[in-house]
Amino acid sequence: MALPADLSVGEVAERAGVAVSTLHFYEAEGLILSWRTPANHRRFDRRVLRRVAVIRAAQAAGVPLSEIREALSKLPSDARITKADWAGVAAAWADRLDAQIALLTRLRHQMDHCIGCGCLSLTACPLHNGDDRLGANGPGARRWFGGPDERAAPGG
Ligand code: FES
Repeated sequence: MALPADLSVGEVAERAGVAVSTLHFYEAEGLILSWRTPANHRRFDRRVLRRVAVIRAAQAAGVPLSEIREALSKLPSDARITKADWAGVAAAWADRLDAQIALLTRLRHQMDHCIGCGCLSLTACPLHNGDDRLGANGPGARRWFGGPDERAAPGG
């Protein structure tokens, strides 16, 4: 029996093991594409199953949707995601995971230092102000004072 070339949203949901609402969300986020039949039914190319698998694996690894979208945008939308495609994006995400693990390990060690202390000191507590990038500019509300160092600060 020949397999259909395209799938309904329910068929994709069943085969991919995700909720229909998840597929709608992925589509709204630009991660997957569908088209409409003359009867206004949503249809997906069956290759979308591989895309959904990549999205699910990335989400399980904690990769933000923005990074998943960027990675998928570099892959051909009209072809199946190959083993080499997957290896390429997964390698970048593995590096990201390694960095997250290193950060969390460092935070865990800092937490050991803070357990039982409770001071939450701006000058001594590595958890409360561990990455004090503005501290070298002097005391006080450095962002309030403005200046070139304030503009260079991340998230400012
Ligand atoms: S709570 Fe005291 S050093 Fe972190």
